[in-house]
Amino acid sequence: MRLLTLLACLIVATIMAAANDDSDISMVMFTKFKKRYRKTYSKGTQCSYFRRWKNRKRMVNRHNQATALGQTSFRLVDNQFADESDDEWKSKLLGLAIPGEFNAKKLGIKELTSIDPEKDVGDRQILSSTITIPSSLDLRRHPCMPPIKSQSSCGACWAFIATTPVEFQSCLRNGNRTVILSEQQLIDCSGLYGNYGCRGGFYTLAWDYLFDIGGQTTNSTYPYRAAAGSCQFKPDVTRVSGRVSRYFYLDSNERTILSALLQRGPIAVSIVANSKFILYSSGIFDDETCKEGTVNHGLVLVGYGTANGTSFWIARNSWGPRWGQNGYILMKRNVNMCRLADYAFLALP
Ligand SMILES: *[C@@H]1O[C@H](CO)[C@@H](O)[C@H](O)[C@H]1NC(C)=O
Ligand SMILES: *[C@@H]1O[C@H](CO)[C@@H](O)[C@H](O)[C@H]1NC(C)=O
Ligand SMILES: *[C@@H]1O[C@H](CO)[C@@H](O)[C@H](O)[C@H]1NC(C)=O
Repeated sequence: MRLLTLLACLIVATIMAAANDDSDISMVMFTKFKKRYRKTYSKGTQCSYFRRWKNRKRMVNRHNQATALGQTSFRLVDNQFADESDDEWKSKLLGLAIPGEFNAKKLGIKELTSIDPEKDVGDRQILSSTITIPSSLDLRRHPCMPPIKSQSSCGACWAFIATTPVEFQSCLRNGNRTVILSEQQLIDCSGLYGNYGCRGGFYTLAWDYLFDIGGQTTNSTYPYRAAAGSCQFKPDVTRVSGRVSRYFYLDSNERTILSALLQRGPIAVSIVANSKFILYSSGIFDDETCKEGTVNHGLVLVGYGTANGTSFWIARNSWGPRWGQNGYILMKRNVNMCRLADYAFLALP
């Protein structure tokens, strides 16, 4: 039966290949792809995964040909997500939802403060406006940057974005001793704050929860399961290792964001993730189609620089170290790429 399905796939593929002149994309390559990412499919589904992979592989090849001709600044790859449907991407990889109240500018009135270091920041002294801006910053190898994590098949990117800045700030306070905190706590316990576990959420709601409950425990105390469950965190009993006392909604201005990153550490942002983003491999991501649309994913900005005359951000994803550049992506700076400047937040202990 399996052999027959495969054979049928192959015949259809061969006919289509002849018609589309992409005979280089073969069943043999698909077999290699499956092996590389240890893919197994349930009965009867292989053909549709093959067809999807094939279409994506064709797009990847076309894109990379354009890159080779100097027409784009980044490369794509048929990575571990290349055979999955748009629905699978949506439910497993993404998971960011801007709260309704947020759009009405009512969110977190007690702590939400918009800051712009170019203007008067009052007596809070969160950011100084008189600093020298170095040409680059890269916190990827800073002792306080935790290893790249993987949300696996749980649409809780929001919990990962919320956690990195807390880990970083806690580590700084700890004399650079790495702190690895529990996304699972946020997934299981912050429902009352408007988050939906593996079905979406927003990082500021997770910080609201942490502020009220007293803090975040470690991943080893409350390990990641990639599934939502009942809350195991006991206030005043479970030991906390990370705290949030305030957070700031940064002006949608990449100079403000850069200044905050430089002076205070990682910045949580939301983006519009499209298929090219998902299949990103290397180079500086620059795509017109994600400059508009609904934000559906988030990242953490951890650095910036300029290469080949193009300014970029270094952004951290939560899709494991095999995605992109060891889990990170370079994104074009100063063009609000994928709307990354629209929901930028700084959280402090
Ligand atoms: C923490 O690490 C950073 C980056 O390596 C370094 O600049 C800083 O001095 C370190 N701080 C302490 C307290 O060791
Ligand atoms: C967090 O906990 C899970 C489950 O024990 C583990 O698989 C994962 O590697 C941990 N993450 C880190 C960054 O240590
Ligand atoms: C800059 O250009 C060189 C040569 O084309 C390329 O190898 C390199 O990857 C580029 N750098 C980035 C960050 O894209």
